[in-house]
Amino acid sequence: MNGSPRFSRLDGERTSVVWMARGDALALLHLGARLPNDEDLVALAAAAARGRHENQPDVPPTGGLLPDPRTGWRGPLLAEFDLHGQPVTPRWRELTLQTTPDRRTIWADWKDEALETHLRISWTMDAGDVIRTRAQFIDTGPRAIDERGVVTTRCASLLLPLPRGFGHVTHFAGRWADDMRAERLPVTRAGLSWASRGGKSGFAGGDWLAFDDAETGAQLGFHIAATGDHEVRIERNDDGDAVLVAETPVGVEGRSIFDTPEALIVWAPDAATLTRAFHTHARARLARHPHNPPRERRVHFNTWEACTFDFDEARLMRLAEDAAMLGAERFVLDDGWFKGRSSDRAGLGDWVPDPVRFPNGLGPLIAHVKALGMDFGLWVEPEMVSPDSDLYRAHPDWCLHEPGLPRPTERNQLVLDFTRPEVGDHIQACIARLLRENDIAYLKWDHNRRLFPLPALGTHSGRLDMMWYQLRADFPDTMIESCSSGGGRIDMGLLGRIERFWPSDNNDAIERIRIMREWSRFMPLEVLGSHVGPSPNPITGRRLAMDFRAKVAVFGHMGVEADPARMTDKERESLAAHIALYKQWRSVLHAGDLHHLAHPDPNVTGMMVTHEDKALALVAQTAFSPVFDAAPVRLAGLDPQARYRVTLPEPWPPRARHYLGDPDAWRAGLVLSGAALMTHGLALPLTHPETAWIIALETIA
Ligand code: GLA
Repeated sequence: MNGSPRFSRLDGERTSVVWMARGDALALLHLGARLPNDEDLVALAAAAARGRHENQPDVPPTGGLLPDPRTGWRGPLLAEFDLHGQPVTPRWRELTLQTTPDRRTIWADWKDEALETHLRISWTMDAGDVIRTRAQFIDTGPRAIDERGVVTTRCASLLLPLPRGFGHVTHFAGRWADDMRAERLPVTRAGLSWASRGGKSGFAGGDWLAFDDAETGAQLGFHIAATGDHEVRIERNDDGDAVLVAETPVGVEGRSIFDTPEALIVWAPDAATLTRAFHTHARARLARHPHNPPRERRVHFNTWEACTFDFDEARLMRLAEDAAMLGAERFVLDDGWFKGRSSDRAGLGDWVPDPVRFPNGLGPLIAHVKALGMDFGLWVEPEMVSPDSDLYRAHPDWCLHEPGLPRPTERNQLVLDFTRPEVGDHIQACIARLLRENDIAYLKWDHNRRLFPLPALGTHSGRLDMMWYQLRADFPDTMIESCSSGGGRIDMGLLGRIERFWPSDNNDAIERIRIMREWSRFMPLEVLGSHVGPSPNPITGRRLAMDFRAKVAVFGHMGVEADPARMTDKERESLAAHIALYKQWRSVLHAGDLHHLAHPDPNVTGMMVTHEDKALALVAQTAFSPVFDAAPVRLAGLDPQARYRVTLPEPWPPRARHYLGDPDAWRAGLVLSGAALMTHGLALPLTHPETAWIIALETIA
């Protein structure tokens, strides 16, 4: 009745996608491993076809990418419309499929004659075999949609029939200072759903998902590459079919043309490949941005955990001298520098240097920092306003509020209303003036409050994006970091405008290594800030040796966030040595392939980066091992046939050094094959809690 099937095929390096159209229905026939070019798609369709069972429509509803409830489909829908105030089920007709000649993009178009609306779904195979997908609808009628009484009430970025086998999904939960806690759940009939609300993705990382197939190890990664609220749900029916629906509620109502934010889909044969796919994609996004010069990730010294609000110009100058002695390359002045900001109760909105702390502006401090060989970075939180600020006193109506109702604060602050053009223009001008008048290499762009009462959906992030675009265009040498009380606002869509993320406020190295491990599933190490904090840690109260704190910080974009004057000579020496090690290895860490190392002890975390003829690994024990002879650490990502010189760069962890089998042999370097390193491993002392080792490898000819 529907004629012969039509196919669209998308191919990457390791992934193929096949869509199959029958009449106006579009099924996802294949999303998985690369198929041979001459695969017989008709046979593939026949192999995937099922007969009906007794309690189904005679033509079983296929679901697919744009399910139609008229076929008996009872699952979720991609888009919903109202006509004259009543929900209406569109009749999507005249399905056409198109493919670009390079087979990198496929799209499908439908029309609804009555609604005079056109719907398009497109999938593009992008860097890393990451598929970018979105839905788009366009009003095709001569009169405006609302004149015709048509309203689109919602449109998801993606409705994805999940390939069979992906029976579990890892998602993330989190709160302040405890970002990105992975949770692996079965995809049951009860369904799963997550939402992030408050205008940012949140400490649970928004909507990063990794489905896994327990039999084959295959992975299916997913993410909405957009800033703001998300809703993701998985529904599974009694016939075993599951669908994922993901959307960003961005106010589609009344729009005559609407592009949903992009969703990303990645198929990979294993978790390590999934990670590399996301990293390749993230790096391509960074490089694609016209204002991104390739940058070395300079060692930061950040003032926040060194002195919070307790500083004046003289103290900062001393801190800068101490930071330079350690080897820091960028001095970042965190919160507290602007007018009236002596605590978190005042000042947001007044982006001029505090005249008491800086009688001559920031110029003398910046000159001092530069004379010490560092560049200068500054903390800002431009989307916010303190009720106790000149900006608020001058424009009390510039914040999000409802007339006549109380204005509840969070961290004593309100959110500026970016739906008003004059507000965004004013803030943009303030930040531009700061950048014009001062030599600023980096901005830590913070965001410490949820957006409420809610602004018109999507408008806040839209205005912000324009602001970042313009600032990057006008000040291409200034790098911007996204911080939101830690990792509350991190997504792939930001990369390009944003070049660094602050993954968590928690610098306790035991907590941080877990958080870095989880974030680095998706984001490469160079965009993830990682700082050596003070001991005891101001958030957890835990005391950790400098050796452990510093080793953990090497695996990221390294920084220091503690007062060197409060460290012992030995601690400063150790920190300086680790900073030197980071500088020596960052070209590997920030360009190579990351491998998470498996270890039988759940308290041992291992990460390793391979790049060209070099590799560097970090292995960290956080608890006390139940056995003295901890299992050998098996490396990953090496060429089994190649031979490597393996060393343990010093300084060594003090207590564990005592148990090292043959220190002299380690100093000289052991030569082993990739096969031996990956299967036999290295028996490192990992018994004691808070012990970390760094392992360096170099291929020998
Ligand atoms: C937030 C950030 C911190 C620090 C403070 C300053 O909490 O996440 O890193 O900048 O603000 O107030």
